[in-house]
Amino acid sequence: MRKPLISANWKMNKTIMETEEFINSFIPMVKDVKDVDILIAPPFTSLSAAAGLLKQTNITLGAQNIFYEEKGAFTGEVSPAMLLSAGCSSVIIGHSERRQYFGETDEIVNKKIKTARKNGLEVVLCIGESLKEREENKTFEVLERQLAGSLKDMTLEGITIAYEPIWAIGTGKTATKEQANEAHANIRAWLKKNREGADTLRILYGGSVTPETTAALMSQPEVDGALVGGASLKPDSFAQIVTNAGKQ
Ligand code: PGA
Repeated sequence: MRKPLISANWKMNKTIMETEEFINSFIPMVKDVKDVDILIAPPFTSLSAAAGLLKQTNITLGAQNIFYEEKGAFTGEVSPAMLLSAGCSSVIIGHSERRQYFGETDEIVNKKIKTARKNGLEVVLCIGESLKEREENKTFEVLERQLAGSLKDMTLEGITIAYEPIWAIGTGKTATKEQANEAHANIRAWLKKNREGADTLRILYGGSVTPETTAALMSQPEVDGALVGGASLKPDSFAQIVTNAGKQ
């Protein structure tokens, strides 16, 4: 059995004070949840404050990005050691917004995953097709290419996959549970063929997940959790998603 994981991706939202407000109200809402793992990924500037508040809770902390070098003259970048020292145990890598706006390729994503894993950070690797690719029936081809490139020369240890169809992110257009399950099954089949440990790896769905859509998505055998953007910005809606994920 794979334990569900619900992760918040706050993107470029929340100041330090807003982060503290969220966490202080969120902790009591989910303190009794034992059957779901909970991860929050605030912006870099809020990590340290969040880590202080999340100590001794059932919530873990992740970053939204990392650089692939360990240190040096890379103005504006953040290293694995910096994330560890800020209290992170995980990092999201390869989000479609990073691929689209910051030119991240599968090769860069692969280098980032390698550095993160070498330093003991768990990784949430995001993959997903565009609307055009889906309409041209290229979804599985795209997912396989992203998996092969992003996970080149890597084992699956410490890796979670987030399937995030680009057309579903921030659009209010959630994939149907059947679409999500089909894509996840395809991802797992590719991983089984090419890597050890695909049975226990968690595959999250991401793209306009709300408290209302969580139960149906989680009812699918291949959906092991969710990566939540917009609906993770309010404590009550994110807590509802966590609770609904545990009821399955
Ligand atoms: P969304 O974002 O829930 O706002 O669609 C999800 C994501 O991009 O991780």
